[in-house]
Amino acid sequence: MKVKVADKSGMCYGVKRALELVEAESEISTEIATLGPLIHNPQVVDRLKSLGVRVVKSVDEVQSGTIVMPSHGVPRDILSEAECIGLKVIDATCPFVSKVHKQVGALADEGYTVVVIGDEGHSEVKAIMSAGGEGALVIGNAEEASRVDWSGKKVGVVCQTTQTPERFKEVLEVVKKSAEEVKAFNTICYATHDRQTSARNLCPQVDAMVVVGGKNSANTTRLAEICAESGVVTYHVEVADEICPDWFGGMDIIGLTAGASTPDWIIKEVIDFLERI
Ligand code: F3S
Repeated sequence: MKVKVADKSGMCYGVKRALELVEAESEISTEIATLGPLIHNPQVVDRLKSLGVRVVKSVDEVQSGTIVMPSHGVPRDILSEAECIGLKVIDATCPFVSKVHKQVGALADEGYTVVVIGDEGHSEVKAIMSAGGEGALVIGNAEEASRVDWSGKKVGVVCQTTQTPERFKEVLEVVKKSAEEVKAFNTICYATHDRQTSARNLCPQVDAMVVVGGKNSANTTRLAEICAESGVVTYHVEVADEICPDWFGGMDIIGLTAGASTPDWIIKEVIDFLERI
């Protein structure tokens, strides 16, 4: 098979930075834990485990050493909790996510009801919500937005960094119809935007798309949705072993994109596999 790779795909600045911070720490410390997976890629998290980096669910599982906050951020009280008990804290939150926390905090201080457009329960969204005060809401789509009474409210809107511009726009339009005042920040990060645009552009040129990345990765899942919505047959895989050659019967050109937390070595394995079909 011929494989065409999207111009922009694979690991982003924030994920690379988080990995570099942990790898550097692993050279000077033998006790390192990350609060939840450092990034949303199970294969990379397994690699870190082989360097002695364990994953914990809560700060109280760590008695000593270093705790690393993941790239998608944590609720702010957790950072202070870890510092209070004397752990060395490395905050690997992506700077773009930290910026959203600041914007949301400012909106809450100015009296806006904070709305985060995103996936309820996702760790990045939970962390953003924690900066948005008690009245903050998560809205997943326009239909959910239409079920809320916005009348008389001052609403401050941001979105999860991995959302699509379409989703941001459709929710914003619903809120604007009845809210008294709306202040909105499109907080989709440049890496997400570039990967989505590249994938969209590639779809019409190929017979099928393979999207590589963690099944728990919001931005990878969004890429797979974008490709499928364009009408091309789309497969979301984490590793080459998941690919079945029968998927591509009668096809010549396969498009490939990868999420912002997918390392180059996994992408290369998938390309090699596809080229051998
Ligand atoms: Fe940061 Fe965007 Fe990557 S928010 S972690 S640069 S996908």
